[in-house]
Amino acid sequence: MALRGDLILEPILLSVADEAGVLNWGEVFGNDHPVELEIGSGKGTFLLAVSEAKAGVNFVGIEWAKAYAEFAADRLRRHGRMNCRIVHGEAGWWIRAHVPAGSLEAMHIYFPDPWPKTRHHKRRIIQLPFLKEVHRVLKPGGKLRLVTDHADYFAHMKETLGGQSDLKVTEFDSPVAGMGEKGLMVGTNFEKKYIAEGRAFYAVAAVKG
Ligand SMILES: C[S@@+](CC[C@H](N)C(=O)[O-])C[C@H]1O[C@@H](n2cnc3c(N)ncnc32)[C@H](O)[C@@H]1O
Repeated sequence: MALRGDLILEPILLSVADEAGVLNWGEVFGNDHPVELEIGSGKGTFLLAVSEAKAGVNFVGIEWAKAYAEFAADRLRRHGRMNCRIVHGEAGWWIRAHVPAGSLEAMHIYFPDPWPKTRHHKRRIIQLPFLKEVHRVLKPGGKLRLVTDHADYFAHMKETLGGQSDLKVTEFDSPVAGMGEKGLMVGTNFEKKYIAEGRAFYAVAAVKG
């Protein structure tokens, strides 16, 4: 994606030194509101919708692609979403290094890269060690929501969730119900693109008991 030259990244882009250790969300946001985290936040479309509808919640998006992370940071700033932060980084590593245990109300992972070739399956973010990490950072009662258009990845998600007892599979409830455009499950760019292509979606959620 071509970068515009006039992006303003402060104060939404959150840069944390590798050695900074575990963060204190109260210090990051200047309040003690609940925190939700999205992995693979892309252009920030989901965060733009939810951060307006849930102004009393803080949102963190982690995005590996620098151009998208910067685009989303500028976009959220232009819309005055001071309850959002965007991290440019690899989510698995960043969460392990910087996210406090039991500190998240929810985690959102929508249309993660499916890595369809068998030899690439190990690159999928949904793996048992990753789910253990999700369990560590969620609050009791906190929820992980997953959506994909990829049937094989969905089977892998359910099998991996079932292969560990820490998170309990539960019904998926749309986090954007009643917000913005009607009929969307999560309202991300990929959802909108795939609706136009007529693709089917698969969704699952899991809760920390
Ligand atoms: C298929 S796109 C979906 C983007 C967005 N969630 C949506 O639905 O429109 C997957 C996104 O996840 C990002 N991504 C993939 N692996 C990641 C990781 N380990 N950490 C952070 N971002 C990641 C990619 O750069 C890409 O922007």
